[in-house]
Amino acid sequence: MITVRGKTIDVLFSAEEIGVEVGRLAREIAASAAEDLVVVSVLKGAFVFAADLIRAMHHAGVAPQVEFISLSSYGAGTVGGEVNILRDIDADVAGRPVLLVDDILESGRTLAFARDLLLSRGATRVDLAVLLDKEGHRKAEIEADFVGFSCPDYFVVGYGMDVGHAFRELPFIGRVLD
Ligand code: IMP
Ligand code: MG
Repeated sequence: MITVRGKTIDVLFSAEEIGVEVGRLAREIAASAAEDLVVVSVLKGAFVFAADLIRAMHHAGVAPQVEFISLSSYGAGTVGGEVNILRDIDADVAGRPVLLVDDILESGRTLAFARDLLLSRGATRVDLAVLLDKEGHRKAEIEADFVGFSCPDYFVVGYGMDVGHAFRELPFIGRVLD
């Protein structure tokens, strides 16, 4: 347990544990990475994970182009929910392999939308790396190729993830206790 600004947070994954997993993921990604790779990080939640992952990928010998996409997801978790592009990537992905990076795979609707968008633009392949997998919540046909941790069924914060715009800066992942 740790207290941050008067809130008690139960630490689920420490900074050290996350660091070990990110290194493992980077080595797995490097082992299957194709030439001319574009990393597409989904804002905002994935920015800390992506920042650590690309540096670990450097140590594993991969030099990707790095891009960001911002997506809004209305009614995420529902079948009828809609995904919109708030800020698009700059790169042309036609003929290139893409690694899509996000914090959490839950319903899968956001990432299924992003994957299909990039494939429709001619990406040769779109692999998916997520730090956390909330299994049992899928509403779209999608699974990640690279997964850090299986996520317990709590709303989690830290390491880029927020609740009401708070706690993105925490170096660990936890859940806010009442
Ligand atoms: P989905 O897979 O389309 O349902 O969307 C997953 C997205 O919802 C993630 O990228 C996060 O931005 C957000 N999300 C889901 N669960 C959590 C959580 O426990 N904490 C913070 N954000 C979450
Ligand atoms: Mg997100």
